[in-house]
Amino acid sequence: MAYGQFEQFIRNMSRVMGGVNTKLQRDLTLRTRVARRFSMVETAQLLAVDTTYLTRISAEEPAFPAGERAGRERTFSPSEVMQIRAIIGSNPAAKRPYLHWRRPGQPVKVVTFGAQKGGTGKSLSAAHFAQYVNLHYGLRVGVIDADPQATVSLYFADEKLPLFDPATPTLADFMGVDDPGSVKLSEPSGKDLNGIWQPTPWPGIRLIPGGANIQNGDISLFFMSQQASVPVYRVLKDAIRTWDLANPPMTRLENIRGDTGEFDPVRYEQALTETVDVIVIDQQPSLTLMQLNGLVAADSVVIPQTMKGFDLATLATYVSNIGEYLEFIMGFEADLEIGGGEHMVLPTIVQEQNDQDTDQILDLYRKAPREVMQVWYSRSDAIANAAEEYKSIYEYLPPKTRRASAKAFMANANAVNDALVQRIWPELPPRDYARKFIEERWS
Ligand SMILES: Nc1ncnc2c1ncn2[C@@H]1O[C@H](COP(=O)(O)OP(=O)(O)OP(=O)(O)O)[C@@H](O)[C@H]1O
Ligand SMILES: [Mg+2]
Repeated sequence: MAYGQFEQFIRNMSRVMGGVNTKLQRDLTLRTRVARRFSMVETAQLLAVDTTYLTRISAEEPAFPAGERAGRERTFSPSEVMQIRAIIGSNPAAKRPYLHWRRPGQPVKVVTFGAQKGGTGKSLSAAHFAQYVNLHYGLRVGVIDADPQATVSLYFADEKLPLFDPATPTLADFMGVDDPGSVKLSEPSGKDLNGIWQPTPWPGIRLIPGGANIQNGDISLFFMSQQASVPVYRVLKDAIRTWDLANPPMTRLENIRGDTGEFDPVRYEQALTETVDVIVIDQQPSLTLMQLNGLVAADSVVIPQTMKGFDLATLATYVSNIGEYLEFIMGFEADLEIGGGEHMVLPTIVQEQNDQDTDQILDLYRKAPREVMQVWYSRSDAIANAAEEYKSIYEYLPPKTRRASAKAFMANANAVNDALVQRIWPELPPRDYARKFIEERWS
């Protein structure tokens, strides 16, 4: 009987997989997480200051991190870069802002990366975006992994984070829908919600890891949807609001220096972890109720999308399904505010050797210049390699033979994220990366 054979097959595979070491490369990566260091020149570039200024500050400020010396080079970890940013940014004589934390009273921003198609670079784009705004603007970021596969979690977790441990809370716990048997939301308090965020080795970046029980969330929401009293599409939006109200930004920049004007590492550390400035959500490739929650909660939605004909057909389905959901929600709750920010399609894994992909982008851009980005992710061997180790381009240490392509892809990631920042935070000072990309590709 067919069923019997399938059962046997599953049983055999379960036994075999129980003995396979699936964790070797993963454990290696987790142990060496964020080993990347930045030279004085690179640090100056991240801060948008010149190197002489940085060298002068390093001599003047006692709290300036010593970094590591390798020959004549002095290098800094991402945490040290953040501290340098805070030292410069909190200096009363600073001529412009360096640390772009949200001010007390400003709500947290939510940016969701989602698409119907699998493997379009959603997780990588989300990880790069989180790390870019952290490295270039000092933003504190909360990453929510809404995918049971937990891909984006693998880009942030180190060995201290109990990933894939059934006891580790996921998005389903944050939303209070972790018990599929329950008929009502568990409504965790703001304090409980804050405890769900896990620290990562990135300064000021926290994570709600993905995991299998995100699927329980869908079952749970499905049953709750039978009752008119539970607005199953905005459970995450409400949870984020509850968390935000209980964990708002409180420290003003000037307060991370003591009365004598000296940089205070304790106050700084406290401010770095008191809240986040932006929440980045990485979606699974589908439109389940859990994923719908990620869209409804977003101020901005980014759709990373490959440009092949069949892939674009999934974009058509995705947007039309979202449209139907929105119509339904509006009929239910006409005054609900959804997606007040900018939204865009980000072309990904673009093959520039032949014109097919770029012609497709050009065509889409002409028809929808607001919706389709002029900057895209090109296909890159360097990132394919880095991703095998679950490393983003911002932490990848390429072997000699890949240094040039890794550098090129970092420039690409910078251009994409610069363009995203300009749309999502028009008030932030732009960098030159997107402009350069557009000049090179479009003129
Ligand atoms: N620009 C690129 N060039 C080459 N390979 C890429 C590029 N971007 C992503 N990839 C590769 O494509 C694969 C999928 O990337 P990623 O996990 O980010 O996609 P995803 O859309 O999140 O996938 P899923 O739908 O499974 O969640 C990864 O192995 C990654 O290495
Ligand atoms: Mg993914």
